[in-house]
Amino acid sequence: MEMSSSELVVNVGEYEALAKQRLPKMVYDFYAGGAEDQWTLQHNTTAFSTIRLRPRVLVDVSKVDISTSILGFKVPMPIMVAPTSLHRLAHPEGELATARAAASMGTIMALSFSSSFSLEEVAEAGCGVKFFQLYVYKDRKIAETLVLRAEKAGYKAIVLTGDTPRLGRREADIRNRFTLPPNVTMKNLDGLLSVQLDKSKGSGLEAYAAGTMDKSLSWKDIRWLKSITNLPILVKGILTAEDALLAVQAGVAGVIVSNHGARQLDFVLPSIMALEEVVNAVQGKIPVFLDGGVRRGTDIFKALALGAEAVLIGRPVLYGLTADGERGVKNVLQMLSDELELAMSLSGCCSVKDIKRSHVQTTSQMF
Ligand code: FNR
Repeated sequence: MEMSSSELVVNVGEYEALAKQRLPKMVYDFYAGGAEDQWTLQHNTTAFSTIRLRPRVLVDVSKVDISTSILGFKVPMPIMVAPTSLHRLAHPEGELATARAAASMGTIMALSFSSSFSLEEVAEAGCGVKFFQLYVYKDRKIAETLVLRAEKAGYKAIVLTGDTPRLGRREADIRNRFTLPPNVTMKNLDGLLSVQLDKSKGSGLEAYAAGTMDKSLSWKDIRWLKSITNLPILVKGILTAEDALLAVQAGVAGVIVSNHGARQLDFVLPSIMALEEVVNAVQGKIPVFLDGGVRRGTDIFKALALGAEAVLIGRPVLYGLTADGERGVKNVLQMLSDELELAMSLSGCCSVKDIKRSHVQTTSQMF
């Protein structure tokens, strides 16, 4: 019997190597790549190594519980699936497989606006709690329609991505003249907008985004969004105390410290470096989540110690999906949970509430 890919893999990073072998170059580069010089991309992961652990010993860790709650939903792990576009580029079952994996692990999936199965199809695929990530196009009716559809399909929160008035300059996509194969579409937009990717001048996605995104979107539009939905709103893409305070003032339910996987503005802080500033600014008024570069249980431990309530993972899910479909995504979530539980046990923390600022030391050194 052929071994499943997941049996060969002992950590999340190894799924990336498998994905690189298996994906067409255009797709791998699209998933893996970041903006311009990719400085932030490189340091989104390496920045975690500037944070050192301060474990406490001789603590009774015979029972360690990594469960928590996110916006009031009980989840077995402080890990969510980040919204990433076009999962069918990784696997024919695309977001359906991802949703099943997240549901079977009991955790929350944030579905991308640019998903390759419709939000209704994804809602039916996995019974778990789901959030819907929203981009706002110039034609505001599209956002209004999709928010109402998400509400009706049972999504529990809207994740408004704030860092994408235009697409960042992803040079690999320009070089590869990124476009979509005929069998993959942005399914939520069927019947609302005809999506044509013009790759004649480089990345078809960049050209498409330039023509569709509403660059005028601003903090005052939170009021507009609240007028069309009662769902809690999370703002994704916060990197400064200033914007964290505006989010609190706007009355959102939480913020996600994120640099969009380093795909937007290069040379912004690696997200883990921006976390504490945001946590200090919001003073516990709303929860703070983090994504960007999370590849190990110790990364999650560090994020929680610096004040995040949970993390989201983007690329590792896409790589697990590529290698082994639903089972690969489940395995990614399982490996990260197991590693977190081990890190907590070895640091003397029996629950996520036990993880304190004093469990980490931030330094400016890489070694
Ligand atoms: C993304 N991300 C993203 N974010 C968003 O709000 N809407 C989207 O459609 C997408 N699409 C997307 C596609 C791909 C291929 C990637 C890699 C990322 C950003 C995503 O939600 C998240 O912020 C990062 O992926 C987190 O960083 P890591 O975990 O990939 O390092």
